[in-house]
Amino acid sequence: MIYLVTGGAGFIGANFVKYLLGTHREIQIVVLDSLTYAGNLGTIKEDLKDARLTFVKGDIKDSKVVDGIFDRHPINFVVNFAAESHVDRSIENPQVFLETNILGTQNLLDAAKKHWSTGKDDHGYPTYKAGVKYLQVSTDEVYGSLGATGYFTETTPLDPRSPYSASKTGADLIVKAYGETYKMPVNITRCSNNYGPYHFPEKLIPLIIKNILEGKKLPVYGDGSNVRDWLYVEDHCKAIDAVVLRGTVGEVYNVGGHNEKKNIDIVKLIISTMRQMLEEHPEYRTAIKGIAGQARNDISYINEDLITYVTDRLGHDQRYAIDPSKITAELGWEPETKFEDGIVKTIRWYLENQDWVDEVTSGDYQKYYKQMYGKR
Ligand code: NAD
Ligand code: DAU
Repeated sequence: MIYLVTGGAGFIGANFVKYLLGTHREIQIVVLDSLTYAGNLGTIKEDLKDARLTFVKGDIKDSKVVDGIFDRHPINFVVNFAAESHVDRSIENPQVFLETNILGTQNLLDAAKKHWSTGKDDHGYPTYKAGVKYLQVSTDEVYGSLGATGYFTETTPLDPRSPYSASKTGADLIVKAYGETYKMPVNITRCSNNYGPYHFPEKLIPLIIKNILEGKKLPVYGDGSNVRDWLYVEDHCKAIDAVVLRGTVGEVYNVGGHNEKKNIDIVKLIISTMRQMLEEHPEYRTAIKGIAGQARNDISYINEDLITYVTDRLGHDQRYAIDPSKITAELGWEPETKFEDGIVKTIRWYLENQDWVDEVTSGDYQKYYKQMYGKR
């Protein structure tokens, strides 16, 4: 099986590439990624040594690049992670979100349709090769915002409220349209908030970890009461794998962690967990950046006084919570990682991988691209 994984140098895409290489022997993967600020070749540098993986630097909107990949590789599965993914950035600059997330998706669909097509049936609908599928990685944010109760199901009306979620909704509708109009074999997955290794430190959990290590304030938007449903990234990868291989064509699957937390509780939990880990494992204190006027070994500053309530995000969605019962019933998928374990694994990963954080926040990661691309 040959996968085209777009956005495979980003957070979830890279975790998915590692998951596929670790669990499926007979596969080939082509990663297409334009390496925006959020894409980092260093994230998959070890994976690039695997002959089953090919990296292409390019834009999902570029039809020549995407066509070229389909010409060179008999792709079975497209898994589209590539996107502008950060809500705050979409509020500042919506355009690139609409371009990448909607037009990029359409371009991928067009290429897949062209290369997978085998003719037409008696009713004039295109027919396709066997064993192919396009999977759109979407988000629970397309459903809008919940009040104190209730869950998003696959039939919850779409009600996006930010430029980011509007762009992801547009993409979902295009995917659905290609499924209906051209009978393309498609699936859509809609997932809640992921966390885990390689999460870009602009998002809540890795930002809080980074700021603690730098002795900076921990910004909590509004009153911190907003709720997100956190899912460990590897569990998400398993769900996507199940939908690619076994999902019913044309269906949408919600993927969630059954793990609702208020933002303020997440921040407090990271503070206490990190402090405990640094107390029990003094060797991790090398991850603490030099903080002016303070001995490196002094971790007494890691306490809730670091929290600062800041101006709320515009249009801030109050609560997301996924009902994943469809994917559980149909494909047997369930979240496996308890949040208490996942957050410890995540914090430990960041304590042990400060080089990665420095790399992605400095722009120096481009050197990996040059090294790797030069070799291939
Ligand atoms: P990310 O921002 O970490 O990574 C996105 C990747 O896409 C980067 O490697 C970037 O370089 C690449 N990219 C961006 N624009 C591109 C373009 N035009 N052409 C080619 N590559 C491009 O994002 P993420 O958090 O890994 O999210 C991956 C997908 O999952 C996104 O579609 C996002 O909407 C969706 N999603 C994310 C979450 C989450 O919690 N992170 C939850 C649900 C759904
Ligand atoms: O729900 C799925 C979505 O989760 C994905 O579709 C998005 O791509 C992904 O970025 C994520 O969106 P959120 O906006 O929920 O994630 P973020 O980490 O930006 O924020 C999580 C919550 O924390 C949100 O309520 C805003 C709040 N927040 C965020 C930051 C960065 C803070 O209070 N302070 C912060 O500094």
